[in-house]
Amino acid sequence: MGAKPVNYVTRPLTPETWNDFARLVEANNGVWGGCWCIGFHSEGLPKGCTVERNRSLKEQHVANGTVHQILVYDGDECVGWCQYGPPSELPNIKNPGTYAKELTELPDWRIGCIFTGTRHRGRGVARAAVAGALDAIGLAGGGTVEAYPEQVEGRPPQRGAYFHTGPESLFADFGFVRDRRVAKWRWVMRREVRAQ
Ligand SMILES: CC(C)(COP(=O)(O)OP(=O)(O)OC[C@H]1O[C@@H](n2cnc3c(N)ncnc32)[C@H](O)[C@@H]1OP(=O)(O)O)[C@@H](O)C(=O)NCCC(=O)NCCS
Repeated sequence: MGAKPVNYVTRPLTPETWNDFARLVEANNGVWGGCWCIGFHSEGLPKGCTVERNRSLKEQHVANGTVHQILVYDGDECVGWCQYGPPSELPNIKNPGTYAKELTELPDWRIGCIFTGTRHRGRGVARAAVAGALDAIGLAGGGTVEAYPEQVEGRPPQRGAYFHTGPESLFADFGFVRDRRVAKWRWVMRREVRAQ
């Protein structure tokens, strides 16, 4: 018998949902040992930065409204997220040099990192998070959306830990198509989202 389908609810990351987000991050050792999902923001993750600094910067972004992030809930528990935002809010993508070489026009929106708590993987949390982010983008006026996922096909199976920008197959399911390769296994993918 397969696992029971879960009905997830999504909510934006705001001062009201900060504690739910923080509980998920803390239950997962700060995520990547303490990045607190700050790597795509302008402050980035300079060498030697502390977990406290990353947490505090993220909380300030939430307080200032300079974060776009969809949280996924299983009941009352936040179990995952999808970060997104305009390029000015998420300037620190991976492989920036290669990305810039063939850049013709910046997108309106970027998908940053996606994350599902280790106990909740393989049950559609990331799928719900990306769906929520695309809905929110549509409600905010839509436009071109870029994601920077990892190729899945043609390479050995990878642990979820290697997919912090998501697996390509997930974005392909949402209609994203390859624009260009920026690393051995990483692609720029794009799609248009209509205003809702
Ligand atoms: C990658 C990750 C987000 C997937 O989350 P998830 O909730 O388990 O994903 P879902 O169950 O919604 O899977 C959706 C689709 O993604 C793909 N997918 C998910 N995990 C995959 C994996 N390990 N390998 C290949 N494809 C994968 C599949 O296409 C899947 O669809 P299917 O179940 O119909 O086959 C999760 O493994 C994770 O959080 N990894 C750590 C990433 C990280 O460190 N992020 C933070 C960086 S700051």
